[in-house]
Amino acid sequence: MRAKAGQAAPFLKWAGGKGQLLAQYAPLFPPERPARYFEPFVGSGAVFFHLRERDFAGRYHLYDVNPELINVYRVVRDEIETLIARLAEHKARHSPEHYTAVRNFDRAPGWPQTAADVERAARMIYLNKTCFNGLWRVNSKGHFNVPLGRYANPPILDEPRLRAASEALQGVTIAVRDFRSVPEEAGPGDFVYFDPPYVPLNATSNFTSYSQGDFGEADQRALADVFHALDARGCRVMLSNADAPLVHALYRGDRIEIVQARRAINTRADRRGAVNEVVVLNY
Ligand SMILES: C[S@@+](CC[C@H](N)C(=O)[O-])C[C@H]1O[C@@H](n2cnc3c(N)ncnc32)[C@H](O)[C@@H]1O
Repeated sequence: MRAKAGQAAPFLKWAGGKGQLLAQYAPLFPPERPARYFEPFVGSGAVFFHLRERDFAGRYHLYDVNPELINVYRVVRDEIETLIARLAEHKARHSPEHYTAVRNFDRAPGWPQTAADVERAARMIYLNKTCFNGLWRVNSKGHFNVPLGRYANPPILDEPRLRAASEALQGVTIAVRDFRSVPEEAGPGDFVYFDPPYVPLNATSNFTSYSQGDFGEADQRALADVFHALDARGCRVMLSNADAPLVHALYRGDRIEIVQARRAINTRADRRGAVNEVVVLNY
């Protein structure tokens, strides 16, 4: 079954998902079709699915350092029928006990080598739909440790959405990569869109140390170097980040546009509202 154009959209909840910003991004994408499209921090892939629906480019390359996430994309691309069958089983068995059992798969000796790719992918989607806020968080041993969310009827299996995504992913290159490898690959005529973990808003321009997860100041600096290396190689480059002094310092002299985002998932209504973000462009 072929999905109709206009249907493909993210099938995972992901921190920093860009779905809400696409309308503001539309005038910022390059005017011409690039030879190839690279998205090195793919996450839930909101920008990829949007551009793919516009048939924006011929060749797409999606990368991320999260191996479970990359496995999910490959399975959605290559094993959609088996994946849907496995998710139907999770949906039928969903309960707090089943959640804990599935969450603990990664405590088994030999994980993940001992599990089939499709089992790992079904597990990740099931946990993403049922855990607290769709967070993906592992502890120092690599064990997923997010508690069960409070959802009356979580959308464990959304078949039309998964099929549309599978269709959109046909022919797409999907790999576990660090963003630092992109300049070895991208060249003149290519378009690279970066959506890294954001600089914390309280980071200062004198680069006092901070860290957010594993992505700290050294990574933000390395990313700015990669951005400028790709610029020198003749690529179109676009990058999202927080409207923080560190970001303005790293991209001084580049074109910076401000967009308005709704705040990240916040259960307290009084902490919701708009927040500025930046888009850095080399064109
Ligand atoms: C802000 S999210 C991307 C959100 C995505 N644009 C969306 O719409 O859902 C950042 C992603 O970067 C990935 N990441 C973190 N460090 C990385 C690295 N060194 N190289 C590549 N990807 C990395 C994370 O696994 C995460 O999926």
